Amino acid sequence: MVRSVIAGIGSYVPTEVVTNDDLSKLMDTSDEWIRSRSGIEERHHAPEGVSCSDLALEASRKALEDAGLSPSDLDFIIFATLSPDQNFPGNGCYLQAELGAGPIGAMDVRTQCSGFLYALTTADAFIRAGIYRNILVVGAELQSSILDFSNRGRNVTVLFGDGAAATVVSASEDADRGILYSELHADGNFASCLQMRVWDISRKPYISRDIFKSGAMWMEMDGPAVFKHAVMSLTEVADNTIKRSGIKAEDIKYVIPHQANQRINLMVAERLGFPPEKFLSNIRKYGNTSAASIPLLLDQTYRSGMLERGDLLLLLGFGSGFTWASTLLRW
Ligand code: UT7
Repeated sequence: MVRSVIAGIGSYVPTEVVTNDDLSKLMDTSDEWIRSRSGIEERHHAPEGVSCSDLALEASRKALEDAGLSPSDLDFIIFATLSPDQNFPGNGCYLQAELGAGPIGAMDVRTQCSGFLYALTTADAFIRAGIYRNILVVGAELQSSILDFSNRGRNVTVLFGDGAAATVVSASEDADRGILYSELHADGNFASCLQMRVWDISRKPYISRDIFKSGAMWMEMDGPAVFKHAVMSLTEVADNTIKRSGIKAEDIKYVIPHQANQRINLMVAERLGFPPEKFLSNIRKYGNTSAASIPLLLDQTYRSGMLERGDLLLLLGFGSGFTWASTLLRW
């Protein structure tokens, strides 16, 4: 039986650190508000001229090195992002060219903060179907360019950061490791709760003349609605994953949840009856890096020596769409 294993992982964040105090000089906010409402203390922002695929390139090189593979060993690329370099072509194509991976297939996944788990599940399906053996699965975001740094955007801007992480997902005949189970969900009825309406293809021209004035070029969010649904959906998908996969909750070594708000993750842990220390977190230092957040935390957990071969991990994602997802894997 073929299983999909994470054969290599790497991450990259831009060097510039933006603290809560830095943001409070630009808008009406405070370190106390941001820290107490979200758990975030700082985040990283990329400098002008750096693109999302540039961040992904750095992370991908580290993942390939970790896997002991070169770009020419890859069969396919799946790139999850909500902040692509351009509307088209997709970032998978840019990354493929920058890596020099040859004319392999490359595609983007546009499911926001659940994007990495959608991409991972797609890679798993390709591998278990016997189509590919080595797939580069990337989650990367350059969100500092799409945030409104005026007071109007303060409920969103203080939360998000830039970063990238990549995994090499490979076919393995080792039955004791790999992806065991995944669930993917969406409910488009809540699309307007977290969105960026930068264009409207039904209009001619598709970008309005008053785009700067209307704020349509920035991320917008109904924070309390997203918060409520995130807690409900993450609890439900984790519970279903445990029941339907037939594992015991106590056998899970760590939960690697999306990093949107520390209060969300603590509430989910409490509802599931999990000790909070099982729910890993790095939100304090990076904020919400959307599609990058789960693999970024996974990479840091791995590189800090906390993971042993065979550890059972539950990955959980929730984001705009709404979309939400889970993956259960043996490291
Ligand atoms: O990646 C997945 C998607 N993202 C999420 O999962 C985020 C989900 N939502 C949240 O994390 C929270 O809703 C927030 C952190 C965004 C906001 O926390 P909250 O406790 O839900 O606050 P709120 O939106 O109800 O706002 C409370 C007050 C409001 O003022 P009034 O109306 O009570 O006077 C806001 O205007 O806080 C105000 N506020 C701020 N004050 C200082 C909103 N943003 C800020 C800010 N600094 N940055």
